Amino acid sequence: MPTVTLIRGDGIGPEVSDATTRVVDALGVGIDWEVHEAGASVLEQHGTPLPEHVLESIRRNGTALKGPVSTPVGTGFRSVNVTLRQELDLFASVRPCRLFPGVPSHFEAIDLVVVRENTEDLYEGIEFEMGSAEVSKLRGYLKYMHGYELREDAGVSVKPISVSATQAIVEFAFEYARRERRRKVTLGHKANIMKFSDGVWLETGLRLAESYRNVGFEDMHVDELAMWLAWIPAELDVIVLPNLYGDIISDLCAGLIGGLGFAPGMNLGKEYAVFEPTHGSAPDIAGKGLANPIAMILSAVLMLRHLGEAAAAGVLERAVEGVLGRKDIRTSDMSGVGESTPTGAVADALIDAINASA
Ligand code: NAI
Repeated sequence: MPTVTLIRGDGIGPEVSDATTRVVDALGVGIDWEVHEAGASVLEQHGTPLPEHVLESIRRNGTALKGPVSTPVGTGFRSVNVTLRQELDLFASVRPCRLFPGVPSHFEAIDLVVVRENTEDLYEGIEFEMGSAEVSKLRGYLKYMHGYELREDAGVSVKPISVSATQAIVEFAFEYARRERRRKVTLGHKANIMKFSDGVWLETGLRLAESYRNVGFEDMHVDELAMWLAWIPAELDVIVLPNLYGDIISDLCAGLIGGLGFAPGMNLGKEYAVFEPTHGSAPDIAGKGLANPIAMILSAVLMLRHLGEAAAAGVLERAVEGVLGRKDIRTSDMSGVGESTPTGAVADALIDAINASA
């Protein structure tokens, strides 16, 4: 019986997590959920939004399923999501974006995978606050050493991109494409402008592509990539990106498949795996039964495959296909819905579909 750490999250997190665990339990795989809290609710008690015992639980179990956790803006509260990825070295974020029949979209068919570097880039947290003594020192240094004029009213975030981290993620993308029999890997960058950060990314990617000649490959400026995605997304297949572009482009891809409520995700490292939807805690709809649980349920499909439960994953995926194809089950984020189906009722419909297929 596999044990999985469950972080229900906040906002809509508990609603979509409860729907997901009910549906997964109906598959009869017998997952033992080890439930832990993270985020603002535990900050006061533990002095941190991500207590050590939560990390220990994931290290012990190897696998976690996580609902969204809010990151309050400007409070000094370190993002639980970014911390988790860094502490567990979850260097690869994988976000498959497939359009399910019945889900309203501007396109007929979408099947893309965004592979995002998860540990460095502008997310590394190396920042200099506007007006601080540090930024003033930095300004002096840049002027003295390089003749750069940094404006006095500027704040600065540093963008490190290393050969080692790039190598790990691009290799991961190629291996993933090969294993999943995908057509090609597109490496997005802006190396014409950021020669020493995206330049490292591009050069390392090009070098690695030499050893994966059996997988299609191209590199593309990230702005052009965004244009193709909005225009003819079928041009793309597996897209590998540095952290920030990956964040933005994966939300764009979620928009192609009906929105964030349909976009699952997983964060993978060499030792641990954390499965979570792409969306956040959606405080605007929390507690109203309006949250679409499909993104988290599809994250559980990815988790089941990772745990070697391919048959159960298949049953669940087919149940999702069946339920989304019905005219009477409409999640609140499906455009043009009249009366939407509450979160729990979507789970009930999936459980019925699972039981009917047994
Ligand atoms: P969000 O993804 O929570 O919401 C964006 C929009 O999508 C909102 O209109 C929301 O109602 C809608 N939406 C999102 N998920 C939905 C679902 N399952 N069903 C129906 N509608 C859905 O993004 P936002 O507002 O930028 O972030 C809110 C909070 O979530 C912030 O504190 C942020 O830091 C956190 N966050 C956490 C993430 C995580 O835990 N992995 C990821 C992204 C954001």
